Amino acid sequence: QLLLKLKVDYKQMTGQDYKAGCPPSENLIVSNNGPAADDCDGEDLVDPWNVSASSTKGVDYDKLIVRFGSSKIDKELLERIEKVSGQRAHHFLRRGIFFSHRDMHQILDAYEKHKSFYLYTGRGPSSEAMHVGHLIPFIFTKWLQDVFDIPLVVQMTDDEKYLWKDLTLEECHRFTVENAKDIIACGFDVNKTFIFSDLDYMGASPQFYRNVVKVQKHVTFNQVKGIFGFTDSDCIGKISFPAIQAAPSFSSSFPQIFGGKKDVPCLIPCAIDQDPYFRMTRDVAPRIGLLKPALLHSTFFPALQGAQTKMSASDPNSSIFLTDTPKQIKNKINKHAFSGGKDTVEEHRKYGGNTEVDVSFLYLTFFLEDDEKLEKIKEDYTSGALLTGELKKILIETLQPMIAQHQERRKQVTDEMVQQFMTPRPLNYKF
Ligand code: TRP
Repeated sequence: QLLLKLKVDYKQMTGQDYKAGCPPSENLIVSNNGPAADDCDGEDLVDPWNVSASSTKGVDYDKLIVRFGSSKIDKELLERIEKVSGQRAHHFLRRGIFFSHRDMHQILDAYEKHKSFYLYTGRGPSSEAMHVGHLIPFIFTKWLQDVFDIPLVVQMTDDEKYLWKDLTLEECHRFTVENAKDIIACGFDVNKTFIFSDLDYMGASPQFYRNVVKVQKHVTFNQVKGIFGFTDSDCIGKISFPAIQAAPSFSSSFPQIFGGKKDVPCLIPCAIDQDPYFRMTRDVAPRIGLLKPALLHSTFFPALQGAQTKMSASDPNSSIFLTDTPKQIKNKINKHAFSGGKDTVEEHRKYGGNTEVDVSFLYLTFFLEDDEKLEKIKEDYTSGALLTGELKKILIETLQPMIAQHQERRKQVTDEMVQQFMTPRPLNYKF
């Protein structure tokens, strides 16, 4: 018992499994208490539960592509997306916020031949409070739904949060409904979108559960230990959960939408920390006679304190919440947004600021759509013409109306609308 407990402590402190004779590598879990002073060459830690970078510039995403074996979204792919969709690429694509993919070319090949696909994304409803970072995949998914005119399924993993957090089933299910309102407020088309709670849909859909069981039969405990770092002391619910996140990648899990078709390709937009789930899914798919899902991966939305870690809903000062008032937004940014500026105005004017680590600038790359304005801000900040306070002001004035509008749209979302989105039903699409 003592040894087991020590192993658990070890894992908690290092984020790694204990292995005799192998001391932990550099990348200890960094808590959200500000960026470390210097760069070191340690590995970044990225999995569905932890994100921490060894450098103040944040995660080295090029290295991650190599480590995960995915592909970079390069100029050629961007141009293809524009050609096939007939639209200018979304600024998340143009600016490398969605930076990595798996099999996107195949999705486009098929689409060009009039073989359509569907979108799958999800959200783990761990609290009522969603922050702006949580919106990134949904804003992007909405764009994909619009330009390709395709159906979307959104998995709310309330079961996952019950298994991982100290929450009751009722709480998790309630968070699903509350979070669904924020998702709906992003503007999804009810005729093309199915949002489902695992707790509800798993029990109601025989086809979904059949796919879960197929995946469960083809993944061993050793494999999930390797992929997710589960240990002998993790509850068995966690160990089998990845099969549940895998199932929506297969069109046969949604007979009401796809009429039992097994071969509608799936594209998953998600943050790259979710990739382990889908590496497993892609490994299993051919063995159960189903298609591998394609993926588009995004970078993380940095915490106010710096790009070393992502925003966390459990630390109010690390995040801008969708419920924040204009005043709270202003105060948080002024007080907590990590600055790449110099210590004094004189020095700043002389040497200029560093946009690579400046959180206010990073946030503007997410939310300021105007490329020319953004470029000008970058120039002026780098040259020292623009001061940190002025840069923060631009961010505040970008976020305040954006969040106010979100709150306005969310208010319009009624319980009946949530009910509609969450009812299994045929969706409106033509393939
Ligand atoms: N596990 C994800 C989370 O905790 C939720 C999720 C389920 C998801 N399915 C997904 C995210 C598919 C992206 C794509 O937030």
